[in-house]
Amino acid sequence: MKRYIRLGINIDHVATLRNARGENYPEVTQAAKIVEKSGADLITVHVREDRRHINEKDLGDILNVVSIPVNLEIGANLEMVKIAIEYKPKCVCFVPEKRQEITTEGGLDVVNNFDKLKKILKLFSSNNINVAIFIDPDRDQLIATQKLGVKTIEFHTGSYANAFIKKNNVELELKKITESVAFAKKLGFSCHAGHGLTYDNVSSIVAIDDILELNIGHFIIANSIFDGLESSILKMRKIISKAIK
Ligand code: PXP
Repeated sequence: MKRYIRLGINIDHVATLRNARGENYPEVTQAAKIVEKSGADLITVHVREDRRHINEKDLGDILNVVSIPVNLEIGANLEMVKIAIEYKPKCVCFVPEKRQEITTEGGLDVVNNFDKLKKILKLFSSNNINVAIFIDPDRDQLIATQKLGVKTIEFHTGSYANAFIKKNNVELELKKITESVAFAKKLGFSCHAGHGLTYDNVSSIVAIDDILELNIGHFIIANSIFDGLESSILKMRKIISKAIK
């Protein structure tokens, strides 16, 4: 049977556009409903400390209007954990968070934040929420994440996406991801991937065996301005299906 890759659509930037004028449109709930109708497998949102796009109300509203799983990206701190436990999305993905960064620029440094993460993860043990950690494709990070007892990781594909734009070191970045996925599989992880993926660069990531899920946001929302959200998602799905080995 042909492999299937779950597609998560990150709708943060619908809220970015809304917040740019302080209006109540475009509505994130409308986007969430279209994502579901388009056959995406999950909706991903990132509640940031500064609430620059999605806020708690958006999260609650989205959870109320869709039945596909919601994947909440959060920084590893108590404020965000409280939100996750209160709203109970199906999945949480811990990401690093620096206020000044434009986007999530790298994976979470599990090696150097091990004790802090261990404490945070304890708060999740009695909740029925799947926990993932967003990491760079790196052996040491994988080993540390395994020691934490987390079973799912999302690989940060940003370095690969940047290399793709610059047409420089693409093979090297792809090799890092491919080898990390193979190592992660040996360690028993479920592997997801995301960041900076587009119609042009997604196929090589899809071709890596054992990637189970992709989370794609900025490109899809940007492309929707020209082609609409539904057809942008359908086109991404088509490219992914075609690239599956
Ligand atoms: N996955 C994670 C964990 C992220 O933090 C992000 C960006 O918020 C994405 C996927 C989506 O990245 P992009 O918006 O570049 O597609």
